[in-house]
Amino acid sequence: MKIAVLGMGYLGVTHAACMASLGHEVLGVDIDDEKLAKLSSGEVPFFEPGLDALTEQMVRAGRLRFSSSYRDAADFADVHFIAVGTPQKRGEFAADVSAIDSVIEELAPMLTRAVVLFGKSTAPVGTAERLRVRAQELAPAGADVELAWNPEFLREGHAIKDTLEPDRLVLGAARDGAGRAIAVAKEVYSSILEKGIPFLTVDLATAELVKISANAFLATKISFINAIAEVCEAAGADVVQLADALGYDQRIGRAFLNAGLGFGGGCLPKDIRAFMARAGELGADQALTFLREVDAINMRRRSQMVELTREVCGSLLGVRVAVLGAAFKPDSDDVRDSPALNVAGQLQLQGAAVNVYDPKATDNCRKIFPTLGYSASVVDACDRADIVLVLTEWQEFRDIEPSELASIVAHKRILDGRNCLDPQQWRASGWLYRGFGRGRSESSNGF
Ligand code: UDX
Repeated sequence: MKIAVLGMGYLGVTHAACMASLGHEVLGVDIDDEKLAKLSSGEVPFFEPGLDALTEQMVRAGRLRFSSSYRDAADFADVHFIAVGTPQKRGEFAADVSAIDSVIEELAPMLTRAVVLFGKSTAPVGTAERLRVRAQELAPAGADVELAWNPEFLREGHAIKDTLEPDRLVLGAARDGAGRAIAVAKEVYSSILEKGIPFLTVDLATAELVKISANAFLATKISFINAIAEVCEAAGADVVQLADALGYDQRIGRAFLNAGLGFGGGCLPKDIRAFMARAGELGADQALTFLREVDAINMRRRSQMVELTREVCGSLLGVRVAVLGAAFKPDSDDVRDSPALNVAGQLQLQGAAVNVYDPKATDNCRKIFPTLGYSASVVDACDRADIVLVLTEWQEFRDIEPSELASIVAHKRILDGRNCLDPQQWRASGWLYRGFGRGRSESSNGF
């Protein structure tokens, strides 16, 4: 099929490359010429495992190309995927949907034949119906232009697998155009559906809500375990052992029960806020007041990490802090609302001398926090450090040998912001180890 993907961010590039890998002809559209130049040479402007190789392969095969012209998209494609961002509005909880609006305002007047537009972006419920009406109003092809909603659930770091082997495909469509939208979606995703992936067809509002509720649930699960971690800290219990024990209950499950610095990134934080804002507009604000608490628990983790560092060091003034990890999660270079970078910044602003090392995110960090110190390796970052903080659970940090790092630092103190290290191993090497919700001494870790 001839497919245009509008918006070349994490979601759009992944979707474009994956659709090309399914055998479709794909045109990726964005307004950023610099980004398009990189993509055209097969280079992805962010880090996502395997995506560089897949993009390059698809560009070389001639199945994936890029353009900054909506005219090209309108002339070329029978199917359009809208994958532009919906960030948090400045100073408000609500989502800024202006990028999706502009796609429709620019593209729809050029649509002279029957096409289906699939929204993939996370949008406030009601957006899809509004855009559907607007697209049909603006398009010369009128009602032959169908708009449906096909939310995306991919996780950064696992984007290709999540796109090609999703847990489920959800398609929201309006009653009038449902038949056509469903038929086209089935054709686009035929090789995925052949694998038996569940395909759920719902109305537009339900599809929008499935996506935002999934993210709200995940955020709630993380804040739940972080709240329990606070109680574990007070009681001298171990939240990691507790989560393992909870996880065996199939109704609960172990995934997303990792206590630590909490959630960040371009989705979870802004999505729960946008969800609260939209519920308020709909008169259902009381239903989601618990998400305020979810947000508060999450943000509290960051200041607790700063306080823990102060407590362990006695003061932050002039203290040399090695921060390992700055991306919002491992296998990503994304630092949007990163808890790790937030903590590094707070420590520096409160008088510590912070040296950050991240395997992939350093360039992005420098743009946001040019005043932090940046190192090229774990060893450089930890050189004469008074304290080491592990704030993103990259495999490289899990693999550190405590005895090897011991000769490099000034003081053997390590704070594990992601509960990703083995406390016994570090303590056995003479380190002061503190995790989140793991008690203070050997005795609280099962011995
Ligand atoms: C999320 C959703 O998972 C995905 O379905 C949606 O499409 C986009 O938003 P992503 O932002 O890539 O994906 O990251 P995710 O893996 O969900 O992690 C989000 C944050 O939660 C990270 O900062 C991570 O470190 C944190 N997290 C995750 C925890 O603190 N504990 C956990 O147990 C799991």
